[in-house]
Amino acid sequence: MSVRILVLGGGGREHAIVKALARSPRSPELFCAPGNPGIASDARCLPDLDPVDPDAVTATAKELEIDLVVVGPEAPLVAGVVDRLTGAGIAAFGPSGAAAQLEGSKAYAKQAMEEAGIPTAGYRVVTDRDAALAKVTETGCPVVLKADGLAAGKGVLICLDEAEAREAIEVFFTEQRFGQTEVVVEEFLEGEELSLLAICDGERAIPLAPAQDYKRIGEGDTGPNTGGMGSYSPVQTVGPDQLADLSALVHQPIVDLMARRGHPFHGVLYAGLMMTANGPKVLEYNTRFGDPETQAVLPRLESDLVDLFLAASTAGGLAGKSVEFADRFSVTVVLASAGYPASSSKGDVITGLEKAAESAEVVHAGTAEVNGQIVTAGGRVLNLTGLGPDAATARDRAYDAADAVKFDGKQMRRDIAERAVLRERDQKAT
Ligand code: AMP
Ligand code: GLY
Repeated sequence: MSVRILVLGGGGREHAIVKALARSPRSPELFCAPGNPGIASDARCLPDLDPVDPDAVTATAKELEIDLVVVGPEAPLVAGVVDRLTGAGIAAFGPSGAAAQLEGSKAYAKQAMEEAGIPTAGYRVVTDRDAALAKVTETGCPVVLKADGLAAGKGVLICLDEAEAREAIEVFFTEQRFGQTEVVVEEFLEGEELSLLAICDGERAIPLAPAQDYKRIGEGDTGPNTGGMGSYSPVQTVGPDQLADLSALVHQPIVDLMARRGHPFHGVLYAGLMMTANGPKVLEYNTRFGDPETQAVLPRLESDLVDLFLAASTAGGLAGKSVEFADRFSVTVVLASAGYPASSSKGDVITGLEKAAESAEVVHAGTAEVNGQIVTAGGRVLNLTGLGPDAATARDRAYDAADAVKFDGKQMRRDIAERAVLRERDQKAT
């Protein structure tokens, strides 16, 4: 009987995971909760199951005789879904609630980095306005203020001068936009960002291919932050030797620390790095796959993802395993709906999906099916991943697909992977 896998989540990341699992030679039987209309082509969707409800997930996994549950987003992890599943004897890919604090609490993450000796921005955790102001004055501007808990990427305020910092302090402590929260005040770091993900089995971390994402809505990295407007992989500045060194610097010490703390880390440990003039520094940890990095990274994976997930869910299961990537480029362009990121537009009819599939992998992020038509149903709507022997070809394929898709108010950035294409030109010229 083939292995039965339930994926939790219903965005672009989960569609990319489902597609990669479907490519496994083990031909797994796939389920996804809640899923989306794109995921429905490869998996049986369970639209009524709430992924953040540990009891409901465990009951459904038992009923469907699921062998492995794969958790996409952070909320179910922090809610303890993995603890409940493993307690019931069901294998799960993802960290326990305690280990997910690396993402769930920025103060916890900074303290862990300090204890594990990981390079990161200087910081202080503050609980009131006066302490915040004192730390801002000591650090100088620009300075970065971060709400402690999960805030869907919105809890980070970068303040260029003291006036902005004072405003931010009011946002956290007077307006309490992110609730009653501790605040991390930290040094501003300059450099290029890099997303370095590793798959972990509680004992060791094996890095995945490096990727870069584009967080701002506007070309040239302007405008407000979003969930991510595009990504590409690999990143030419990180060769295989550097990848191993970086992972030894930013992943393995955290996996070792969490094992010592009695909270072994299983699943994906995502290090958001800033490559500064003084070396790499960790901006944050996430305890799951990145979105949209996953959409660019997984199509390049040559190893069997089912095998890797099962191995990572057991203590030390990755021993002797390697993670192989194809020597080709991938570029993911995100299409967003009108109003994003401040709002999103629902119900706009989408056409051109078949044409898009001729040049790229089409991943659904925020879509719905209404009367047989696919319509927008969220901020980030579709992800188009072009693959090719070089960055320029992969980028052209992604944009051919992005142009083929039509819906009212469609937004996209035109400069995704531009950096990679320019680096490639420089390399060819020398
Ligand atoms: P985080 O959720 O902590 O990764 O922060 C979101 C984004 O804010 C990061 O991807 C960076 O672009 C930016 N950021 C966070 N911390 C810093 C920092 N210390 N210096 C400069 N930029 C930062
Ligand atoms: N791409 C950023 C994230 O997944 O948090």
